[in-house]
Amino acid sequence: METDGSLLKGQEKEEYVTGMFNRIARPYDKLNGLISMGRDAKWRQVALDWAQVSCDDKVADLGTGTGDFFLEIRQRLGEEGQVVGIDIAENMLAVAKEKAQARFPGNIDLRVGTAAATGLADASQDLVTMGWVLRNVADRAAVYREVQRILRPGGQFLCVDMSKPSFAPSRWASQAYLALAMPILIRVAGGDREAYDYLNRSTKRFPNRQELHSEWQEAGFADVKSRSFMMGSIAAHLART
Ligand SMILES: C[S@@+](CC[C@H](N)C(=O)[O-])C[C@H]1O[C@@H](n2cnc3c(N)ncnc32)[C@H](O)[C@@H]1O
Repeated sequence: METDGSLLKGQEKEEYVTGMFNRIARPYDKLNGLISMGRDAKWRQVALDWAQVSCDDKVADLGTGTGDFFLEIRQRLGEEGQVVGIDIAENMLAVAKEKAQARFPGNIDLRVGTAAATGLADASQDLVTMGWVLRNVADRAAVYREVQRILRPGGQFLCVDMSKPSFAPSRWASQAYLALAMPILIRVAGGDREAYDYLNRSTKRFPNRQELHSEWQEAGFADVKSRSFMMGSIAAHLART
């Protein structure tokens, strides 16, 4: 029987998530574009515009995956830019490395590691980004503590992830899409059914936009702001230390 990875906790969840992303690393980009209807790149761009990333910022992209946030940040920072991408799944990073080397020979810093223990120095970063990662971590409180440790005072924390629309008809439409339309798309594209069941279930169990907003405030982040994309089925959160 298929494991419901969204119910796992601690080390078991971390191992499940690592194994799943190592398994889907190659088709991930294609399927990601398909299920977001090609909108995911735009959401990353809008989120980075919102954070007003500037070319002398030092940025850590946690859960960098196949590198789409990382590459957009690298593009914005320019040749001298300092961005490090960290991910728990080696196979995702291998794809990120290929993509990065094709676009930016030279200055590429991609490392295996976890969002709760990055190995980065205290107060060393101006901005920490996480795109579709927070839902997957085993211990969000531990990640918040790590982000607060590595950000300089006043540094920014930016997350984009799945969410649940608060307007009921939008919520039904989003749930229907995740539960009904997406599995068909995945089957047609030859994707991994278990991984996309996990996406659906973990989204249901993840705090909605307002709950995550409150969680960040309780965790000690300042100036917490949030916004929605795609009728509330995606949420972005931005805060300062
Ligand atoms: C859905 S992908 C998103 C990748 C990328 N950020 C993007 O915007 O497309 C989630 C990534 O987070 C990574 N991940 C999950 N849990 C993690 C953790 N605790 N620490 C570091 N990376 C993690 C996974 O290996 C995967 O590559």
